[in-house]
Amino acid sequence: MGYRYIGSKARVADDIARHLGFPDKKAGCFIDAFCGTGIVASKAADLGWKIKINDMMYSAAVMSEARLLSTEDVPFSALGGYQKALDILNQAELSGFIWREYSPASLNQVGIERGYFTEENARKIDGAVATVHRWKKDGTISDKEFVLLMSTLIYAVNNIANIAGTYGCFLSNWQPQALEPLCLMPLDLRKEKVSYSASTDDVFDIRSEEEDVVYLDPPYTKRQYASYYHILETITLGDEPVVSGVTGLRPWKSKASVFCYKAKALRALVSLASSQTAKRVLISYSNDGHVQLDQLIGELKKTGTVEMFNLGAIGRYRPNQVARLHRPEVNEYLIDYRRGGGDEK
Ligand SMILES: C[S@@+](CC[C@H](N)C(=O)[O-])C[C@H]1O[C@@H](n2cnc3c(N)ncnc32)[C@H](O)[C@@H]1O
Repeated sequence: MGYRYIGSKARVADDIARHLGFPDKKAGCFIDAFCGTGIVASKAADLGWKIKINDMMYSAAVMSEARLLSTEDVPFSALGGYQKALDILNQAELSGFIWREYSPASLNQVGIERGYFTEENARKIDGAVATVHRWKKDGTISDKEFVLLMSTLIYAVNNIANIAGTYGCFLSNWQPQALEPLCLMPLDLRKEKVSYSASTDDVFDIRSEEEDVVYLDPPYTKRQYASYYHILETITLGDEPVVSGVTGLRPWKSKASVFCYKAKALRALVSLASSQTAKRVLISYSNDGHVQLDQLIGELKKTGTVEMFNLGAIGRYRPNQVARLHRPEVNEYLIDYRRGGGDEK
């Protein structure tokens, strides 16, 4: 199942894992501090690293954590197994918040017509959201089982959303996939347990140890994840915020990322990397972001040694053809920064 997340490293995650390498005996954790979809942390877990994932978006942390779960973590004993839980969710229906705000029913309900989901699918989403949150509250499912069901629901919702990749807006015509019924399908689980922890903190609150490797994959442009993925956040939180405008945006300013502001991004990234206790920091960036790579390297070299690897061309989200023509090739880079021994000793 695909997940078109802005800045996802799905295409280069194997390369990043190759540069990371296997953990040695003294290794600490691999900290994916802006984990997004969690694909990079998942590859690091495959190599045997202990994992810490973090993203200030709850929906991203949930998606990432689900990739680390093993069959043993999520028995769904009270419901008779994962598939039985999905069978119940696939039958659930409710005319709730998503139906009211994000399906064409919104015209009568709130006076603005929004077409993210058909009315039928919106009711199914509401039914599943209410059921999973109720199960969590009454103890029918564990925290890990909640994470798996929410992640399964997010994949299913992405499959039938009437959008062009993000929830920044809905499309005016119904796309064929949006007319298909919502269907929750089981996600793959690991055979072996992974040692991990997950958080939803601001990245500047994440602490590392000397032996850890910190991986930083910040936003590259002004696109704020909290507004582009607002509906996934609402589904995961199960709340009913006051939403506004044609797109029905939930309040998101408290989650505005400093890395999305051109004037602030370089300083923020350098200060984040160089203030880690971890000796090794890996940074993803591209030649399409608003921090200039040579400036970033120049700043990092003041406090450490730096190697940069070109991971090749990567297709990137383009809002329109003018943007595509403007810079057709985007290259993705991995910066390997080791603290100490820099120019400013
Ligand atoms: C480029 S994406 C990461 C993509 C991820 N590596 C993947 O392959 O899916 C950047 C992520 O950083 C998160 N983010 C942005 N600013 C943040 C901050 N200040 N603290 C924590 N997370 C942040 C966003 O929510 C987004 O999920």
